[in-house]
Amino acid sequence: MGVMTDSPARAHPMLVSGSYRLLHGGDYNPEQWLHRPDILAEDPRLMRLAGVNEASVGIFSWAAIEPERDRFEFAWLDGVMDRLHAAGVGVILATPLAARPRWLAEAHPEVMRVHPDGRRDTPGFGRHNPCCSSPVLRERGALVIDRLAARYAGHPALIGWHIDNEFGEGAQCHCERCQAGFRTWLRTRYDGDLDALNRAWWTAFWSHQYQSWDHIRPGDSAVEASQLNWRRWCSELVADYCRFQVAAVRRHSQASTTTNYHGSLEHHDHGLMAQAIDYTSFDSYPGPDGSANDRREFEHVGWTLDATRGFKPGRPWLLMESCPSVPQWRQRQRLKRPGVHRALSLAAVGQGSDGVCYFQWRGGRGGMEKLHGSVISQDAPHDTRVFREVAALGRELAALSGVAGADTPAPVAVLWDVESEWARRYNSGLATVVRPGDLSRAWHRAVWAFGANVDVVDATTDLAAYRVVVVPGVFLLRPGFAERLQAAARAGAQVLVDGLSAWVDEDMACVAGGRPGPLRGALGLRCEEFDQLRPDESVPLDDAGGWLPANAAAVGWVDRVHAEGCEVLVACRAGFHAGWPLLTRKALGGGALWYLAGDLDDAARLHLLRRLAGTAGVAPCLPDLPATVVARERVQPDRRFVVVVNPGHEPATVPLQPGWSDAVSGEAAGERVVLGAWDARVLVRPR
Ligand code: GAL
Repeated sequence: MGVMTDSPARAHPMLVSGSYRLLHGGDYNPEQWLHRPDILAEDPRLMRLAGVNEASVGIFSWAAIEPERDRFEFAWLDGVMDRLHAAGVGVILATPLAARPRWLAEAHPEVMRVHPDGRRDTPGFGRHNPCCSSPVLRERGALVIDRLAARYAGHPALIGWHIDNEFGEGAQCHCERCQAGFRTWLRTRYDGDLDALNRAWWTAFWSHQYQSWDHIRPGDSAVEASQLNWRRWCSELVADYCRFQVAAVRRHSQASTTTNYHGSLEHHDHGLMAQAIDYTSFDSYPGPDGSANDRREFEHVGWTLDATRGFKPGRPWLLMESCPSVPQWRQRQRLKRPGVHRALSLAAVGQGSDGVCYFQWRGGRGGMEKLHGSVISQDAPHDTRVFREVAALGRELAALSGVAGADTPAPVAVLWDVESEWARRYNSGLATVVRPGDLSRAWHRAVWAFGANVDVVDATTDLAAYRVVVVPGVFLLRPGFAERLQAAARAGAQVLVDGLSAWVDEDMACVAGGRPGPLRGALGLRCEEFDQLRPDESVPLDDAGGWLPANAAAVGWVDRVHAEGCEVLVACRAGFHAGWPLLTRKALGGGALWYLAGDLDDAARLHLLRRLAGTAGVAPCLPDLPATVVARERVQPDRRFVVVVNPGHEPATVPLQPGWSDAVSGEAAGERVVLGAWDARVLVRPR
């Protein structure tokens, strides 16, 4: 189990005095309240009352720490750290580079990002908009981090480092230096051989050959490979910028580091970023508020959280931000109904988060986020519904400290690879064919409905330990991916590849020799044509083996493939596609590679997943789970925890075998647990 084998030098923040606890806390921005010592004094007391044991401090405080060049003000932060420590609150201290002080940006505009049209951001323009290659920014950033780390490395409140904040699309800068950096990176990638780049990028098309490295501009719109490689380079730059901040911390402090991921996960390569930090974290603002139809949104965020964990498989992660109320940026300011926040929080814990943290502890009275939901609203009284819900959850999380550090073992992997997502975005064609993320989420839903833990992992991951591997829409073949799939099958996995996978190579050229390229032998088939169906169209199937539900049909698209040594399990029955294989299998080692040559609806996906799981010997976390209940498992050496969540309005009954207890109350759970609307329970039994 990754977390237990961490070197003490990189102890996870949840590991306090040798034992784990779930973190409960969030962003704390005292620099906005320095004129109110009464509030600064009150916060730690109220945190105790709310069962808060963590605060993420200083994320946007560079200007408060260094109000003018080389003048550092630490007295306020000393006080904050001391008071939090006295209240038993651990601090995840930020490297404060997510927003730059005005004096820095005014004196050195180069620290600000340049847009594709050449426009440079001005100092008052938002945040999260640096030029990550700026030497001035790195010099000044290293200095402020150095001062912070030197001062607080030994402070007893410090439990870890929060590197920057939400690196994202905003970190793409088009200044001359970044463009030159891109070209230098390309020279290395193509061994200084411009002809090789021209061939790989197929630039003879429309006479787009580059005669000089200097002709290469980021994201040349008619050269798909240029756009893709620009994304890659931006990703490498932002990961390097994160590494640079970690290195500055490491000159003084060995406490663990994280950076908070967010949104669609498409901004950059989070797998690459994960290599720079000790554990991943995510800022989660899911849609469900207790409305009638928000199960899909619950499933959507579930996919994202499994992906967050998947970027560092086998490691704990942290729900770094969530909102106990409603964010001001939502189109509809609808409050979460009672219980929804708790259910979403416990669901995240079930998915491996070792805590529940908020944005933010206390809202500011001004600024763009003054109306954002927070544990305490500005300087208003704290005697509120939200505060009470947060405090109640704090008590539950304290009772669940046995969950902290537990593994989240997943027998099933569903692939999602950011490079395929980018490749589909830049690909001319397939414009209205389902995107990789949507396909990955559809398969993830099937695994949730089945009731097993699932990792969402990218195409660089070693897959050999999984029992079932689903490869939906992995359009671009990363180096070694075809080999990793075969290694997984040889090790016994059932590997399902779909017809939207394995189309292009790393530079967006069609795979050599026709689809499915290097997987042809292992899958035992070759693809001839791809047909997109009309939205109202479906293709009936011959399925004597019952691999799909009765009357299942292919929808969305059909990939016309020739069997070359695979078994054809299901075939198209009628119409233009009659006789063409829809589902095939070819054994390899202890496992097999399957090919799905058409899309399915949710019910058919679940049915097929059940068949794959049955073949692979994978069982749900709990038997006989009602279809509406989601169950996720966490495992300690001596105990199994299962978190059951009912993300809907109809009550649901989960039947239990003997031996389960309620992990919060310690009482025997009996033969069943009844979950009301948006209810959740954590169960435990010895292993
Ligand atoms: C996050 C960000 C926070 C805050 C929050 C509001 O994305 O990290 O600083 O802006 O959104 O929802």
